[in-house]
Amino acid sequence: MAMAPQEIPIPSEPYLSNVAEGYERWARTYDRCPNPLLAREERYLLPLLGDVRKKRILDLACGTGRWLEKLAAQGSQLCMGVDCSAAMLGIAAGKRSAAGRLTHAYCEALPFASEAVELAICSFALGHFANLDTFAAEVSRVSKPGADLFLTDLHPEAYNNGWRVGFRDENDAVEIETHTRTADESLATFSSHGFSLVTTESLRLEAPEQIIFARAGRADRFASAAQVPAIIAFHFRRSQLSNEFWET
Ligand SMILES: C[S@@+](CC[C@H](N)C(=O)[O-])C[C@H]1O[C@@H](n2cnc3c(N)ncnc32)[C@H](O)[C@@H]1O
Repeated sequence: MAMAPQEIPIPSEPYLSNVAEGYERWARTYDRCPNPLLAREERYLLPLLGDVRKKRILDLACGTGRWLEKLAAQGSQLCMGVDCSAAMLGIAAGKRSAAGRLTHAYCEALPFASEAVELAICSFALGHFANLDTFAAEVSRVSKPGADLFLTDLHPEAYNNGWRVGFRDENDAVEIETHTRTADESLATFSSHGFSLVTTESLRLEAPEQIIFARAGRADRFASAAQVPAIIAFHFRRSQLSNEFWET
C-alpha cells in the first residue's frame, strides 16, 4: 500500500510531479488535510527544541509556516523561514506569526550570513534535495559553531514499503519527486560538513495518530501503518570549530 504524508493512500501509479509543480498544487490544501506524520513529528520534536526565545532560528523548507507558528507560540522572535515554493510561502504569509519572516530561496543557496544561525530545522524536505551534499555544506556555512540542527523526513523503510510524498486533489493523486537515501548516507553527508550526531530516531505512528486515521475513515489501515518506521529524525550539532576549519 502506498501512502502519502497525508493519511490518504495513493494509487500505485499516481501523477508524478516535480517539486515546483507539486507544491504549487498542494499549497492550497496542505494545511487543511489532517496529516498523521506531521502530528507524530510535532509530538517528538517540540520538546527537544528547548528554550527558543532568544535563538536565531532557521526553518529550512518552511512550507506553509507550520514550524514558524509553533516557534512563535513558544516565544521565538528571531526565526526565519525559507522555501522555494512561492505558493507555499503565500499560505505562510497569511499567518500572523510567519508573515514578515519568510524568504523565497533554495535551501542549497541560502541568502544568510555565515555562522548566523543557532538552531535550524528541516522538516519533511530532505528527500526533495537532489544534492544533499550541497545542502549540508550550506547549512554548515550558516550555522554558528555549536548550533543544533534537527532534520526529519519520511523514513527510508517507509519508502521501501511503498509510502510516497504526495496528496490528492480534485483531479489526481499526485506524487512529488523525491530522492531516497539510507540513514547512513545522510549521516555521512552531514558528518562530512562539521556536524556530529546527537541522536537519531525512527518514529512509528502511535495512538494519537490513530484518531487521525479514524476521522479520515481509514481506521482499518492504522494497525499495518503503525508497523512501519514512519519518520527518520536526526539531531546534529555543529562542531565548535569555525567554518574556516572545514573549508581548508
Ligand atoms: C512536505 S513540505 C514540508 C513543509 C514544512 N517543512 C512542513 O513540515 O510542514 C516540503 C517543502 O520543501 C520545499 N522544498 C523542496 N525543495 C526545496 C529546496 N531545494 N529549497 C527550498 N525549499 C524546498 C517545498 O517547496 C515544500 O514547501
